[in-house]
Amino acid sequence: MRLDRFLSNLPHCNRQAARQLLASGRVRVDGLIQCDGRSEVSQFSRIQLEDELLQAGKAARYFMLHKPIGVVSATEHPEHRTVLDLLAEPDKQELHLAGRLDLNTSGLLLLTNDGQWSRRATAPTGQQPKVYRVETQDQIDPACIEVFARGLYFRYEDLTTRPAILEILAPRQARLTLFEGRYHQVKRMFGHFHNQVIGLHRVSMGAIQLDKRLCPGQYRALTDAEIASF
Ligand code: URA
Repeated sequence: MRLDRFLSNLPHCNRQAARQLLASGRVRVDGLIQCDGRSEVSQFSRIQLEDELLQAGKAARYFMLHKPIGVVSATEHPEHRTVLDLLAEPDKQELHLAGRLDLNTSGLLLLTNDGQWSRRATAPTGQQPKVYRVETQDQIDPACIEVFARGLYFRYEDLTTRPAILEILAPRQARLTLFEGRYHQVKRMFGHFHNQVIGLHRVSMGAIQLDKRLCPGQYRALTDAEIASF
């Protein structure tokens, strides 16, 4: 939300009063004087009018989890354990997932209470690489490399996937780098070659690598550099 809107929504304030407050240099956002009403504030911003606290600003929280197989990427589910069940954090129901993994996929999952950040992290065409380790039922046809690099047509969404990089590591193992996140994308891409994905693990999203010290089911807070990378 824009700062001028935030101010004009306050009791006993209107747009003109908000403009005057901003021009007077008495409004601070996160400790700094802010005169530009077009600047963005969020639930995480600390907003003051001189010494009066208008909004304390919530703590933004960011975590990486090593999602194990068999746990659902959801905040609640009638049958299965969810990824939230793996976190021992206060107010964890305020967290949401920045991208999902299938029930039988393991690897890097990001959780946060910052909606703007998760939108940046998961924008389908955000250009941020997502790297997967893939194991398949049958031998991987080297023709996949070129077809994945060209893009595959997904009829349901009526789109062609962005160029992806396939590196074949062993006859039935590969590393696949995607630059978008479509529903069941990896399985559908190999499905095009009638080759079933029997093991799938996400290694990284953008610059954030799954921390090798995390066993399946373990998690940690993201570092400032990891947060800033999206
Ligand atoms: N692609 C899939 O098919 N499944 C996942 O969990 C992630 C990407």
